[in-house]
Amino acid sequence: MKRPWNLTNLPVYSLVTSSGDAFNMNVCTYVVPVSMVPKMYMVALDYNSLSYENMEKSDYAVLQLLGDEDYSVVRTLGKKSGRNTDKMAYLERRNILSEWHGFPVINNCSAFMLLKKIRRMEGGDHELFLFQVEKFQSCHPDFLSEKTLREKKIIGT
Ligand SMILES: Cc1cc2nc3c(=O)[nH]c(=O)nc-3n(C[C@H](O)[C@H](O)[C@H](O)COP(=O)(O)O)c2cc1C
Repeated sequence: MKRPWNLTNLPVYSLVTSSGDAFNMNVCTYVVPVSMVPKMYMVALDYNSLSYENMEKSDYAVLQLLGDEDYSVVRTLGKKSGRNTDKMAYLERRNILSEWHGFPVINNCSAFMLLKKIRRMEGGDHELFLFQVEKFQSCHPDFLSEKTLREKKIIGT
């Protein structure tokens, strides 16, 4: 039997973070809504990631709920670091970027949320960021979940 945290079928997101005018995207599933009014989300970021380093210093980020077809970018966004891979150049070459509230985003996402950083808390090997949703846009309901990543053998758990 799988461990409890591998039994679930979590939605797959990508957080767009920035440092000056340089952007980066990760893949994240440790993402959960925690307040209805105002709408707030917790996102756990790996201390070793560029996304964490960017988020320490900036107040805003965009959370993308990836579309089911976006499994094809998960290896690059979620298994490589923006420290040694230019992920934005990779996405530009694939011609799948557009702009939303000043951030680059992946065209066919299910939804976008503009997040404002409210608070941070240590959480084991990740830091927990509490965000308030300032703007959102829903595009389509076919979001990417771990089930597709398991079927495509992108994750083994
Ligand atoms: C399916 C999946 C889920 C992930 N969930 C998270 C997560 O919730 N938080 C996190 O910080 N990293 C998560 N990661 C790992 C990051 O996406 C990964 O460390 C990435 O290389 C970080 O890139 P960066 O250094 O450019 O920020 C996940 C990766 C995958 C493939």
